[in-house]
Amino acid sequence: MKITIIGSGYVGLVTGACLADLGHEVVCVDNNPDKVKKLKQGIVPFYEPGLQSLVSTNFKEGRLFFTDSIKEGVKHGLVIFIAVGTPPKDTGEADLSAVEHVSKEIAREMTSYKVIVEKSTVPVRTGEMVAQTISRSIAPGIEFDVASVPEFLREGSAIGDFLNPDRIVIGVTSDTAAGLLVKIFEPLNAPLLLTDIKSAELIKHSANAFLSVKISFINAVAHICELSGADVEKVAKGIGLDKRIGMEFLRPGIGYGGSCFPKDVKAFIAISEKLGYDFNLLKEVETINQMARNKAVEKLKIALDNQLEGKTIAILGIAFKPNTDDIRSAPSLDIIEQLREEKAVVKAYDPVAMDNAKLEISNVEFCEDEYETVKGADAMILVTEWSQFRSLDLARIKSIMNRPVIIDGRNLFEPFRMKGLGFEYYGVGRKQPGKTEIK
Ligand SMILES: NC(=O)c1ccc[n+]([C@@H]2O[C@H](COP(=O)([O-])OP(=O)(O)OC[C@H]3O[C@@H](n4cnc5c(N)ncnc54)[C@H](O)[C@@H]3O)[C@@H](O)[C@H]2O)c1
Repeated sequence: MKITIIGSGYVGLVTGACLADLGHEVVCVDNNPDKVKKLKQGIVPFYEPGLQSLVSTNFKEGRLFFTDSIKEGVKHGLVIFIAVGTPPKDTGEADLSAVEHVSKEIAREMTSYKVIVEKSTVPVRTGEMVAQTISRSIAPGIEFDVASVPEFLREGSAIGDFLNPDRIVIGVTSDTAAGLLVKIFEPLNAPLLLTDIKSAELIKHSANAFLSVKISFINAVAHICELSGADVEKVAKGIGLDKRIGMEFLRPGIGYGGSCFPKDVKAFIAISEKLGYDFNLLKEVETINQMARNKAVEKLKIALDNQLEGKTIAILGIAFKPNTDDIRSAPSLDIIEQLREEKAVVKAYDPVAMDNAKLEISNVEFCEDEYETVKGADAMILVTEWSQFRSLDLARIKSIMNRPVIIDGRNLFEPFRMKGLGFEYYGVGRKQPGKTEIK
């Protein structure tokens, strides 16, 4: 089938490359000419495991094309996916201006029937806005359908997630659109949930909000563990083994970040309020998430006698999670900002996110590797649980740090082992073998 994707970022490019790999003829459109130039040279402009080779193969085999012309894209596709960004406004609402703009442009270029699919994450009732926008700009007599097929992929495992999803949600209002979308996604052999557009939109916000609730729940429990002397790793296992609860997203840590959870929780709160419901549960989720970040700096202050000015702090991990170079709303940004407010000297390293970090963060000494980062440091905060950090040479780390203080924001290490190695170690909600009580 001829398919067009508008917006060739983490979601759009993965969608385009995977659909091309399933045999469709796909045009990916982006309004960033540099991005399109790179893609035309076969270069993926961001880090996502496996994507480079998937794009190259399908590009070479003539199933995947790139353009910055929306006109070309609209001419090509019978089904057009909108995968542009929906960032948060200051009010917390989703900024739908790119979705609206693209809808208008699609309408202006349409000369025959198309299905326009929301792939971007959008608040409930955005489908109505898209349909109205298209109706206002389309030439008379041309028919169209709007649909919603929310995306559940995770950066870092995006291709596997796209090709082996737990479910595919298809929100439609017509049999024609349903038929075309089922044909596209049926080969993935996943449960298909056919529904209306509003329910599809709400499924995506609810799914991300629910996962955020789980994360904040276990982080609140971690806090109680610190206050009471219990061990959150044991508590998480003890509740996660209950099949009704499950282990996933019960990992205590420094809180969620990234381009989805923070903005989607905010947008869900905002649309709920607009519809007349005060979603206090989600507001508390945000408060707990901020607490989880703040606690890393609070622990640092305890360890360094409340004196961070002039102290050198090593940050390991800048990306919002492992296996991505995405630093949007990453906890590291917040923590680095807090450290700079305390006039600490910050050194930082990430295995793949350094280029993005250098564009976003100033007044930080970026280092070549973990060891250069911790050399001479008064403390290290482990922010992102990259697997290579699990196998750090801890004896070497201890020998080159100025003070062997580790704030482990992801519970990568065992407190008793760390104490045995001579570190002053602070995990999240762990039983503290050290002298300091964390309040
Ligand atoms: N990143 C994820 O893990 C993920 C997962 C599921 C859903 N989503 C949702 O998917 C959407 C896209 O997210 P993303 O991470 O891919 O964002 P992104 O910023 O990586 O990609 C968006 C792309 O759209 C392009 N764009 C913006 N306006 C355009 C226009 N008028 N015409 C053509 N191209 C335009 C941008 O240049 C960019 O390349 C968001 O709504 C997000 O919430 C993201």
